[in-house]
Amino acid sequence: LDNGLMRMPPMGWLAWERFRCDIDCKNDSKNCISENLFKDMADRLSEDGWRELGYIYVNIDDCWSSMQRDSQGRLQADPDRFPGGIQNLARYMHDRGLKLGIYGDLGTHTCGGYPGTTLDKIETDAKTFAEWGVDMLKLDGCYSNATEQEKGYPLMSQALNATGRPIGYSCSWPAYQGGLPPSINYTVLGQICNLWRNYGDIQDSWDSVLNIVDWFMTNQDVLQPAAGPGRWNDPDMLIIGNFGLSVDQSRSQMALWAIMAAPLFMSTDLRTLSSEARAILQNKAVISINQDPLGIQGRRLLKEKSGIEVFWRPLLQSASALVFFSRRTDMPYRYTTTLASLNYTAGTYKVYDVFSGQVMKNLSDTTAFTVSINPSGVVMWYIITSLPERGGGEFFFGKK
Ligand code: GLA
Repeated sequence: LDNGLMRMPPMGWLAWERFRCDIDCKNDSKNCISENLFKDMADRLSEDGWRELGYIYVNIDDCWSSMQRDSQGRLQADPDRFPGGIQNLARYMHDRGLKLGIYGDLGTHTCGGYPGTTLDKIETDAKTFAEWGVDMLKLDGCYSNATEQEKGYPLMSQALNATGRPIGYSCSWPAYQGGLPPSINYTVLGQICNLWRNYGDIQDSWDSVLNIVDWFMTNQDVLQPAAGPGRWNDPDMLIIGNFGLSVDQSRSQMALWAIMAAPLFMSTDLRTLSSEARAILQNKAVISINQDPLGIQGRRLLKEKSGIEVFWRPLLQSASALVFFSRRTDMPYRYTTTLASLNYTAGTYKVYDVFSGQVMKNLSDTTAFTVSINPSGVVMWYIITSLPERGGGEFFFGKK
């Protein structure tokens, strides 16, 4: 969507995967969906170095609203769990250089059973969100049919635009229609949404991550061209820091999401995050690959019989990223190849190993090299040409 927003994949925090629809603030006050949870996360984002890395969205998901609309038909926050209201919460974010995202659902109810946005309510809800100072909307698609979605998703895009407030727009539409043509037209999606969920929900397990990666890579010929500045495929949240992934699997999720130019919404408890998880989520080289200004989504190049897969993403100034991923379950696998066999033809390259920090200065495209890839892990390389006139020289990761 060409609204000037999200020219690079949005980054931040989203409540759903980790905190779901926990509304039991009496017994679970630290974890329930309430303004305190979002303020806690905002404090962590602004005080623990996240904001400076680009993690600026704090996004509410389902179960924030009251069971009833107000007397004028507007959505309202649950008064017990959000006593200050959404407007104050938005101000809290803005005071800290952060942005607030909210959740709605095109349909009679949200997936969690809260009031939905039927076609006749689209304008009202867009206005309400804008008045509150909200910066992003995730519009889910439970309890609506294909016809309603085909009307409703573009209508909401227009309604948000008409408010005059810049509001990033995340559409769950494709996820409800199988995510593929002919039911889904990615040209249209790119015109009306900044990002879209293509596929099912992520869960806290490696199985779930693999399932998502498989679907995205199987369908990369359709999905890869759909992405670009202002319009992103969304394979769903990062679950790094939770209970389902090992350290290697966490690196794999981060690396593959960077290759996919995916939005980076962490869904984890930033108050209790382990130092390993933090190091992965705050890795500057992976973030700068994810945030590359060209906004070209990467692809899977190779699927070896050995269970090794190679992924590639082109980056600004003839730089690129490679990921060597192992589906093996035995031991670290020594994979030998050359850059030439991965379509590199510019002579010599400089390589930065994103997770080990090691640098290789002069790797010729025809020289065989070996990487050792852990089971369900990755080796990720950031590669630049050695030629200074083509942008080669030093590695620099950070805000460009
Ligand atoms: C759907 C969405 C999830 C989450 C839940 C909330 O399942 O895909 O991301 O928003 O609804 O109920």
